[in-house]
Amino acid sequence: MRQDKATSPNTADRIDMNRLKLISHSPEQTQRLGTHIGELALPGDIFLLIGELGTGKTCLTQGIAWGLNIKEYALSPSFVIIRELHGRLPLYHIDLYRLDRVEEIAELGLDDYLYGKGVCVVEWAEKGLSILPAEHLLIQISYLSDTERSFQLKSSSKRYLEILAQLKHLSLNS
Ligand SMILES: Nc1ncnc2c1ncn2[C@@H]1O[C@H](COP(=O)(O)OP(=O)(O)OP(=O)(O)O)[C@@H](O)[C@H]1O
Ligand SMILES: [Mg+2]
Repeated sequence: MRQDKATSPNTADRIDMNRLKLISHSPEQTQRLGTHIGELALPGDIFLLIGELGTGKTCLTQGIAWGLNIKEYALSPSFVIIRELHGRLPLYHIDLYRLDRVEEIAELGLDDYLYGKGVCVVEWAEKGLSILPAEHLLIQISYLSDTERSFQLKSSSKRYLEILAQLKHLSLNS
């Protein structure tokens, strides 16, 4: 694996054809990244979030909701597997945390959401990767310190490369 050089703390420090890495220094910066993603979202987009407990998946989703002009907070669904929020586009916030077997995920009947006209954000997407659509933007979040998280965005699909290109010059400072 190549080592990433963090040349500038708040800007993208690397972009290949299909990946982008950003460092967030606060929940607000994570929300800001989400807001940009939400603003760029198109109908049918699928954002798959991967990261340990408390890394900031829901925090990023809040930002995505704001970027879609959704006024409600996308509070952690915790006991709710699917939440539907309405803004510029519908947002389907799916949290697979409580599901352990891929069969359980398949039984949810997510196709109407995943192949619909809204935007899907899936927390704990690693649990269902084998049955989730192959065309997606993968967002891997890693804990760096109490206040810092790294975000690795990856896709091989043309649609999401457009988003990565747009985010390339993003500064998470206000
Ligand atoms: N840079 C940061 N980005 C996001 N969250 C941060 C950051 N620094 C600290 N935090 C804190 O980390 C926590 C992230 O919580 P959040 O609910 O978003 O995580 P999560 O990945 O959705 O967790 P879960 O796996 O339980 O769903 C919050 O308490 C937030 O304040
Ligand atoms: Mg969460």
